[in-house]
Amino acid sequence: MPSDQLAELGKTEVTVRGPASGKDLGVLLYRPDASTVLAYSNICSHQGCAVGTETPEANFYCACHASRYDYKDGSVLAGPAPKGLTRYAASIKGQDIVVYPPLDA
Ligand code: FES
Repeated sequence: MPSDQLAELGKTEVTVRGPASGKDLGVLLYRPDASTVLAYSNICSHQGCAVGTETPEANFYCACHASRYDYKDGSVLAGPAPKGLTRYAASIKGQDIVVYPPLDA
């Protein structure tokens, strides 16, 4: 995705293609500063619902059973989720944000 579409302190959801499966993967992005982007799987660790970015508390949120995740590190803040979101490598290369899902995804 073009890096100018995600402002500093911004969050968004994107879809990337799994390198092995060829399936579309939901990815949550957070950009803490101009040169850093953090990427997480959007699959909730509780029962696998899709985690989103829209929440009054400004965290990542799963609407199925109200788990909340910290967008700064993917850790669980509230709800029944037993562990944090899976982190993906990501970087800003020139004008693009590049996400590297795991090779078995
Ligand atoms: S599936 Fe996300 S909180 Fe239950």
